Amino acid sequence: MIRKAVLPVAGLGTRCLPASKAIPKEMITIVDRPVIQYVVEEAVAAGIRDIILVTHSSKAAIENHFDTHVELEASLEQKGKHELLASLRSIVPDDVNIISIRQGEPLGLGHAVLCARPIIGDDEPFTVLLPDVLVNNEPRTRTDLAGMLEAFDATGSAQLMVEEVPWDQVEKYGIVEPVDNIPSPGQSGPLKGMVEKPGRDQAPSNLAVIGRYALPGSIFAILADTPPGAGGEIQLTDALETLRSHQGVQAYRMVGKTYDCGHPLGYLEAIMAYGRAHPQFGNGFRELLARYYQGE
Ligand code: G1P
Repeated sequence: MIRKAVLPVAGLGTRCLPASKAIPKEMITIVDRPVIQYVVEEAVAAGIRDIILVTHSSKAAIENHFDTHVELEASLEQKGKHELLASLRSIVPDDVNIISIRQGEPLGLGHAVLCARPIIGDDEPFTVLLPDVLVNNEPRTRTDLAGMLEAFDATGSAQLMVEEVPWDQVEKYGIVEPVDNIPSPGQSGPLKGMVEKPGRDQAPSNLAVIGRYALPGSIFAILADTPPGAGGEIQLTDALETLRSHQGVQAYRMVGKTYDCGHPLGYLEAIMAYGRAHPQFGNGFRELLARYYQGE
């Protein structure tokens, strides 16, 4: 069973400026919690117990968010604000560890994942969650991450979570080429190839890698040997293509919906979706939406 997750959070978030000038882009709020908290909750719900943040000196707010704030907790306790206190204490369940390691230089996503090698080692599988993307599976209880990790356990094959995107968007993603038909939602299928951010004419399909991976520990040795690729960066997609040629890689087609919070419109859409469904604020937020839709 996969128990460790790598969350690469060292990126400087230029697409989110000016919001991300003095706070990490992962700390931007969706309704009542930062983006990164949703991603950690997604990992924990799928059985992950060690969360490895690959981070940067400018992003200490992320580590602070997952640390205990003794003074704040004492003050809430003293004031009898038990609900708030419980919400703070449940950010990280007692049996979950938050571990961080630095990526000193921005050498690419592949390099960021490689930074976790001393913590995971070459013999243990792990998952990678890119924190710009939120995956929403509601109202279902089984999440896509849990489904993908099960597919890894069942097949022993690396898994990349994919979804269909409009053809004019393929150049923003890693794009996969299935061996046979496109897998049905919730199913995995083997891949013939993958390519990082192809032009529309070169894209082998419109199935995009959305930033959730289940990988064997052997990917680290491949990453260590992967030369810089697209954009002069060490690309995870290039290492995955090498892994595929050695032992096969599968695509897990997701059931739920993604929200790309790495740019303003995706982030606004996430606020609409999560705000509307929020147990406490949902009703009020739907009224607000109706009012603004009518242009009042
Ligand atoms: C990264 C990956 C890409 C993937 C994307 C998903 O790109 O390199 O393969 O499709 O995340 O968000 P980035 O968005 O970091 O440029």
